[in-house]
Amino acid sequence: MRLKRKDILTIEDLAKDEIELILSTAQSFKEVSEREIKKVPTLRGRTIINLFYEASTRTRTSFEIAAKRMSADAINISASSSSVAKGETLKDTAKNLEAMNPDCIVLRHPSSGAPQVLAGFIKCSVINAGDGSHEHPSQALLDLLTVKEKLGRIDGLKIVIVGDISHSRVARSNIYGFTKLGAEVSVVAPPTMMPSGIASMGCNVKNRIEDAITDADVIMMLRIQLERHKVPLFPTVREYSRLFGLDRKKLGKAKKDIVILHPGPINRGVEIASDIADAPYSLILDQVKNGVAVRMALFYLLLGGSRE
Ligand code: CP
Repeated sequence: MRLKRKDILTIEDLAKDEIELILSTAQSFKEVSEREIKKVPTLRGRTIINLFYEASTRTRTSFEIAAKRMSADAINISASSSSVAKGETLKDTAKNLEAMNPDCIVLRHPSSGAPQVLAGFIKCSVINAGDGSHEHPSQALLDLLTVKEKLGRIDGLKIVIVGDISHSRVARSNIYGFTKLGAEVSVVAPPTMMPSGIASMGCNVKNRIEDAITDADVIMMLRIQLERHKVPLFPTVREYSRLFGLDRKKLGKAKKDIVILHPGPINRGVEIASDIADAPYSLILDQVKNGVAVRMALFYLLLGGSRE
């Protein structure tokens, strides 16, 4: 089974049945990471380049682990330690990498749309590992897998996403992903961090976290993306945290069986209290674990190969 596409660029592009195929494939790959020898020969002889123009811990590591667990050769390139630092353009960098005949380039880039541009001028597959404030499709897929695994379904769930919605590629990909699979998504943010027109993506827009979470099944907290702010968007971190941070008092308004997601990195005591991040109902580390399986599934479905 393969996806009938060369690239994974956005969740907006993906059809519901493609998302479901990725999730079921990822579920089947989870057991590989539980084996004593965590490796299958599926992508032996394939070459995957992780080309990262922004910092990353979870995404880059899990793409690399996913490639290696499938026996592909994985090469990591950071812009800061490559010839990008000498002024080379994305196009020239990509063309030079393509000359070495890789099968897939995984790109993280600060500019929205960079993976689409790259996919247009190279022949190998491109996976978007996060582009500016646009999309982070593999993150949304691992979030969907985590919720489906924990709650048994996506259809009919109420998902509340809280934080810097304007600058969050995770929020955009998750709004597309959860709504395509039949969930109802609400977003909560200070007015300065709520993009105009967000409701046209099919989500509810709410002002107060306390009102939004009363009937929620899942709360997803987001980091403030300070690195993307051109001007200050809130008076103080303390005030942001008081109004939009998730603490025990606010969580008291939610259902008893609520689960909490956060894509990471978390800023403890800002958008999420430390005891909530570490609580049994926090799925933050389940998300990270599922990231490896989702990225194995993406490589498998794009690059092919036999399962054993
Ligand atoms: N969730 C996520 O994208 O984390 P990293 O920036 O560490 O990859």
